[in-house]
Amino acid sequence: MSNLDDLQNKISKDIEELNSEELKKIYLSNEGLLKKAFSEISKLDTDQRAEYGKKLNELKSIVEKEILSSQKSNVSKSVERIDPTAPFDHDTKQEKKPRILDLQGSSHLLMNELGKFLEIFQSMGFDIVESRQIDDDYHMFESLNFPKGHPARDMYDTFWTEDGFVLPAHTSTMQNRILKGKKPPIMAVIPGRCFRNESTDSSHEHTFFQIEGIYVDKGISIANMIATIQEFLESYLETELEVKIQPAYFPFTEPDAEFTISCPFCDKKGCSTCGYTGWIELMGCGMIHPNVLKSANIDPEEYSGFAWGVGLDRLLMIKNYIPDIRELRAGNIKFLRKY
Ligand code: FA5
Repeated sequence: MSNLDDLQNKISKDIEELNSEELKKIYLSNEGLLKKAFSEISKLDTDQRAEYGKKLNELKSIVEKEILSSQKSNVSKSVERIDPTAPFDHDTKQEKKPRILDLQGSSHLLMNELGKFLEIFQSMGFDIVESRQIDDDYHMFESLNFPKGHPARDMYDTFWTEDGFVLPAHTSTMQNRILKGKKPPIMAVIPGRCFRNESTDSSHEHTFFQIEGIYVDKGISIANMIATIQEFLESYLETELEVKIQPAYFPFTEPDAEFTISCPFCDKKGCSTCGYTGWIELMGCGMIHPNVLKSANIDPEEYSGFAWGVGLDRLLMIKNYIPDIRELRAGNIKFLRKY
């Protein structure tokens, strides 16, 4: 046992003075001191063996722990800190070359299509005004003929801030701002991001683009509305589609309608994109309600007009043959490169 006390003293001294490789060689190698001490066990009296073996194991674990911790600190010392934002290559110290071309940015399909959409309406004489991404109860509901407690408010379930502002569920929030204080004729298209508290599926997203259209003047009728929308659709989609106008309900238009087109993904047979109906709803529209004109100080006896709100995401899905709306914001680089 006195041998082991000597060994312990030597270990303590060597830990102070030697590095991990040297400790490994002196104590843990085949010729090492610990190995040698273990081989002595068989020469001891049986009653001494257990205590000797226990002490020896303790010494071994002291050496092993020391080796491990000095190896770890060596690793952390050897990791060179680099600045990835430095304008030179860290290995060669040469100036960094621009990254390969296809990693440079380009505009998103939604923005490209929005540009084409707006160009068509600009050529028809419409002004362009951008919608807001945060709004208030008055513009979201009150000015659009949804008094407080109106059940149709539930159709526009969206997100509210704690201090009472709203993330617009539609671009109709801009109608009052466009109409108020102006003398007709008023013609505007209003693109904007909309938000709804929706369960998403292939044709519904919680965030999507709508484009509102407004046309107010003397003698405007529903025939003008249908002609304007049809002309736009033919020009934008560059394809023949079957169009269906079906009755709808919006508190801010009277009469109201929905523009629906035959589903190009299933040829009207029914699929997950059209909700197995054979038709895809593209937009709501109608003649602007007299109360909405009045809230903007426009006399409904003298003027009339129409408005629509179309989903840009749905339109471009049809044009580009994208069967699932969620692809547009999934950040899938393979999908984005295709467009
Ligand atoms: C409206 O939002 C009305 N403000 C439209 C309107 C404007 C009617 C002016 C009359 C006059 P609706 O909830 O139906 O209506 O939405 C209009 C269009 O937005 C839909 O036809 C669809 O193309 C698109 N849309 C609605 N919800 C979603 C959604 N969750 N994901 C993607 N597109 C959507």
